[in-house]
Amino acid sequence: MNISIFGLGYVGCVGMGCLASNGHEVIGVDVQQQKVDLINQGRPTIVEKDIDQILGEQFEKKKISATSHALEAVLATEVSIICVGTPSTSRGHLNLEYIFQTAAQIGQALKAKNTFHVVAIRSTVLPGTNDKVCAIIAQESGKRRNVDFSVVSNPEFLREGSAVEDYFNPPMTVLGGDNEKALDIMSKLYTGINGPVEFVDIQVAETIKYVNNSFHALKVAFANEVGNICKQLDIDSHEVMRLFCMDRQLNISPVYFKPGFAYGGSCLPKDLKALNTLAHDLYLESPVLNAIDISNEKQKNRALDLIVQTQKRRIGILGLSFKAGTDDLRNSPIVDVIETLNGKGYEIRIYDRNVSLSRLVGKNKSFIEEKLPHLCNMMQGDINRVLEWAEVIVIANRDDMFQEILPRRDQKIIDLVRITRHENKGGYEGICW
Ligand SMILES: NC(=O)c1ccc[n+]([C@@H]2O[C@H](COP(=O)([O-])OP(=O)(O)OC[C@H]3O[C@@H](n4cnc5c(N)ncnc54)[C@H](O)[C@@H]3O)[C@@H](O)[C@H]2O)c1
Repeated sequence: MNISIFGLGYVGCVGMGCLASNGHEVIGVDVQQQKVDLINQGRPTIVEKDIDQILGEQFEKKKISATSHALEAVLATEVSIICVGTPSTSRGHLNLEYIFQTAAQIGQALKAKNTFHVVAIRSTVLPGTNDKVCAIIAQESGKRRNVDFSVVSNPEFLREGSAVEDYFNPPMTVLGGDNEKALDIMSKLYTGINGPVEFVDIQVAETIKYVNNSFHALKVAFANEVGNICKQLDIDSHEVMRLFCMDRQLNISPVYFKPGFAYGGSCLPKDLKALNTLAHDLYLESPVLNAIDISNEKQKNRALDLIVQTQKRRIGILGLSFKAGTDDLRNSPIVDVIETLNGKGYEIRIYDRNVSLSRLVGKNKSFIEEKLPHLCNMMQGDINRVLEWAEVIVIANRDDMFQEILPRRDQKIIDLVRITRHENKGGYEGICW
């Protein structure tokens, strides 16, 4: 395939060499003449393992070249990949100036092209950018989106230092688009690359890179805070984190990575508090560890706000324990929400097949008696006494039995745990989806 790459920096230069070594012909475009000249001498614009050799070989085979003229590059190719920089503005916003300039250049060039053209956004851009790029190209070219051209969001996951290796072995290739022909062309571009191709909504593709990088940053800060506490106690932090990473069932795993309600139970709140207090006693600042509980409280407030916004007074709660399959009520986040609703005079009925007040003992019993002394008036032994009475139904844990009844309900449903995605007659709202 003939491909043009806009922006010959880290991403563009590596992409050029790797695409060419997979059999494609690649024309690079950059506003810096020095970078154009380097490519036209078969030399990389960056320092990166293996890229000198790859570019040298592909230059010899005449598979790569560069120009500062967008028109020439677009007319000679079927796909244009945008890899220009997206720096921060002085106020911390994303600066999309180079992306929009490139879109305008591609649009102007497309005026003179009569075949379908695919534009791929490889740069890291915020959700909504694909639409803006489409609008600019349509305006500049007079061509129609998804008829004459299409824009696919295709974020890049490589790391500098191992960029070539990462290019050929990505965790996945993400293609976000709304045109089958364009997605088909883009997936052919990556034939021979290890790893699955994921076709997703445009905005999902635009969001993932920010989530990835924010999480990487969080991991570094988290590990450093753990390290600071360990050092103070003369514990080897690298041994601790080695064990941490060995747990692929709960730690390095999809478990807990489901947007939804606050955490609770007898362990997470207590142990996080103990670690934070330990750090405090050691005169250490641990802002990341401290922020976790703050964030969790905000999620409870969010659930409360969703209920209050319905302007209904009869609230049915399905699920009282902190997770399905247990009667443990200690620090169950919905208990806090119920406590507040109760204080505000809402009428509440609750159903949880695992919770029987007469069987609660010990800390579990004393916790709930203190929090909700009148719980016995709210608890129902028959789910229908909640369903038939409530104006709003709140799903607070993932008991399977809640899944089946929901699509049939006439009331508004507030789902805190993504028990279902079915729309129901009375309206459905997820806490964070
Ligand atoms: N560097 C990485 O490891 C990495 C990894 C994944 C994603 N990204 C993202 O990819 C994008 C590019 O990153 P980079 O590190 O390669 O940037 P870079 O600064 O190294 O290269 C960007 C290039 O774009 C050129 N450019 C700017 N405007 C142009 C225009 N109108 N036409 C043609 N060329 C133009 C610049 O001259 C520069 O050579 C960014 O959005 C970045 O966030 C970077």
